[in-house]
This record gives sequence, structure tokens and C-alpha cells, in this order.
Amino acid sequence: MTTLIVHPASGPLVGSVPVPSDKSIGHRALLFGALCEGQTRIAGFSRGEDNVSTANALRAMGVRIDEPSPADLIIHGVGLFGLKPSEHDLDCGNSGTTMRLLCGVLAGQRFRAVLVGDETLSRRPMMRVARPLRARGAVIDGRPHPTRPGDIVAPLVVGPLPEGRDLLDLEYESPVASAQVKSAILLSGLLARGVTRFKEPTVSRDHTERMLRALGCPIRTVGPIVEVDPSAWERRMPAFDIEIPGDVSAAAFPLVAAQIVEGSRVTARGVGVNPTRTGVLEIARDMGAGLAIEPQGERGGEPVAELHAWYAPLRAAVIGGETVPRAIDEIPIACALAARAHGTTRISDADELRHKESDRIATMVHVLRAFGVSCEERPDGLDVQGRSEPLEAADVDSRGDHRIAMTAAVLALVARAPSRVRDAACIATSYPKFIATLRALGVRVDVEE
Ligand code: S3P
Repeated sequence: MTTLIVHPASGPLVGSVPVPSDKSIGHRALLFGALCEGQTRIAGFSRGEDNVSTANALRAMGVRIDEPSPADLIIHGVGLFGLKPSEHDLDCGNSGTTMRLLCGVLAGQRFRAVLVGDETLSRRPMMRVARPLRARGAVIDGRPHPTRPGDIVAPLVVGPLPEGRDLLDLEYESPVASAQVKSAILLSGLLARGVTRFKEPTVSRDHTERMLRALGCPIRTVGPIVEVDPSAWERRMPAFDIEIPGDVSAAAFPLVAAQIVEGSRVTARGVGVNPTRTGVLEIARDMGAGLAIEPQGERGGEPVAELHAWYAPLRAAVIGGETVPRAIDEIPIACALAARAHGTTRISDADELRHKESDRIATMVHVLRAFGVSCEERPDGLDVQGRSEPLEAADVDSRGDHRIAMTAAVLALVARAPSRVRDAACIATSYPKFIATLRALGVRVDVEE
């Protein structure tokens, strides 16, 4: 099991860092490339393990994906109805997005597929996609959830859709703002007979909607309502070329590192700044963090920017409401800002964090306390009391959660002595070059296998 020994920063972090390509957009580019007709080219693909899980699942269903260079992929699309049954279970690894989006695509197929995941993914709730898909006639089942009555977990068995039956129209109001649920429903809607109308409490990331629109699919959005009506559509999507923007969710780690280590200044270029993803930048601004956003136009139908972050004294903030879904993956690293801010930061409306790669509310409380930061767990969030003196050196376990491991590594930069971050191999699911990036900024990180 990989353990990181992260040494406190011995001076300011200064530099310009590359960030991996956006994981969410990567999943969608792969999926849509497979469902299009012709050759789709993806540039700037960063090979995070989660994206690789999606690529391998598609390959197992007969989609040819070439890799002419490490950062480029060519997908030979098979069309909306061209996937083939896999000879083996589809392994989604650690990736909830792979599993849930595939449920949407598989719901309308005439073959049976089994979706499996690693230990962490096999604990995550799947009824949130199964329920609405069943309501439109899909066959989908899993094992009973060990602690949530009525919920299911992987392995999931999806399909086949009975001969002579199509997926039905669906009007669904999701109790959670979730782009994975929304995308699964919209994808199934492409294969359905009638109209799909999906509503969520507030708008979650909208990469699927943007891509569908760019591919000429019949999609309309009004605030948190999305509608797909394939009745007058010939159900064909053209192949496309896309250069994937940098992942703001990954960039947040080196940027926050710069915002808490005195004297630092770090730049990340070509980062996606889709407004449904930039909650963390707004939180940082609210807390007085050093941050400048220089727009750089669009890439792959998404706005991109150069982000500059630097050290400045921080103040506590109140984080909640519609900002939370737009910062859902960045709440752990926002806790690192809160740990160094003057006052107590309250994070609310974030109960969804309990269903991520770990229960991120409980895990962050455990990590923050290990670093000597006072905090209180609440059902839908936590209160973090900022600490101005150096943090205690910690010995923490990521609980298999990549964002927790990276947050702990960032907190370690402002500790009194070296800290240990256990179970850190999971970082490769989203940010394979994270340790190299910290080292390039002058941080000493030792790795014990
Ligand atoms: C994602 C949606 C979010 C996010 C995840 C990626 C996506 O999950 O946490 O990392 O690509 O659609 P939820 O839809 O469960 O909020």
C-alpha cells in the first residue's frame, strides 16, 4: 500500500503547473465518441485511471480505440445502437461516473451487461440511477445496499431490454443535484421512444448537455430542467474532434497549496472554467485567497482560463446552497483553506459528500483532527476552525479516496514536521502526476510502497 511522506514546505511554491485533462469531460468524450458514427479524435487525454476504465468498458463492447500517442485517442464510433455484448463483466474500477453513465447507455440495449467496480465503488448507492431507468422500462438490478434499505450496489446487471419493447418517455425530478444521474437519464433518453424531461434541485455540471447540443441532438435546457425529444431526430451523431480542457478539480490542489503556503505563486494554464464547476474559485475568493482568472477562450465547447493563485491571509466563510453542487469535488480541498482561515468556516447542504469515494464529511473530520485542526461534523457538512500556527504533523489514511489523499498532502505543507498519507495510490484515479507536480514546485515527497 503506497504511503506518502510529505515534508512541510521549506519555502514558497512558485511555478506554472500542467493539470490533467478534465475527467468528467473525458468520460463523456469517450462515450459520445463511441456512440457517434465515424472517427472521433480526443487530444490532451491524461490517462487518469477513471477515464481509462470508461475506455476499457467501451472496448469490451466492441469499440475500437487507438492510441496514436500517449495524449491522443481515436475512437471508431459504432453508432447509437452498435455496441456489442461484452464477453466479460465491465470493470468500472473506482469510477462512479463510468458506472452510472454506462447504466444510461446500457438501459436501452438488447443485451445483458454486468457492471462491477472496486471495493470503494461497490459501496456506492446505485438506486439513484436504477429507479428512474426502471420507471422507463429498463431492466436493472444489483445487490442490496449493506446499510441503506431499498438501495442497491454493484455488481449491477443491466438489460436486456425485452424484444419488442422500447424505453418509454420519462418525466423525472431528481432529489439530488447530480450530473451522473442527469447524464444517465439523458443518455437513456437518446434511445427512448418518447420525451425525457429531467429536473434537479440546482444545476449540476452540464458537460453532457453541452456535448449533446454540439452533436446536434434535440436537447433544450431551462435552468435546472433539461429535455430531450428524439421523435423528429434520426438518432445519428457525427464524429467530432475535441481537445479536453484542464481539470479545475485537479488544478484546485496545487492552487490551494499556493494559497496557504506563505510567499507562493502558482499558475495553471488551460483550465476549464465552466460555471457549473467553478464553485471552488468563488469560495476561494470569498475567503480572501489570492486568485486571478485570465480567460483564454474556449476549448471543446467549454470556457478555459489561466488561473493564478498566490498566498494571502484567509478569512472564514459560509459555504452552502447552490455553490455546493458546483464545488462538490472540491469541498475537501476547500477545507484546507478553512483550516488556515481566521475564524470558523461552516459548510452546509453537502450531505451528498457522504456518497463519494468515501464519506467525505467523516473522512475530512478525521484528517483535519489528525492535523490538529478543530472541527465538528454535522449531518450535512462540517464546521472548521481555522488555525494560524503550524499544523501538527499527521499520520492519516485516505480511506481509498483520491481527493482526501491529495488534500492531506496539501495540509502537510503547513505542518510542523513531515506527515504520512497512507493508501495514496488512489491519487492516480484522477491526477497521475500529482506527486511530480508537487515536487516540481519544490516540495519534498517521499514514497513508500
Ligand atoms: C461527476 C459528477 C459528480 C462528481 C463526480 C463526477 C460527473 O458526481 O462528484 O466526480 O462527471 O458527472 P454526482 O453526479 O454524484 O454529484
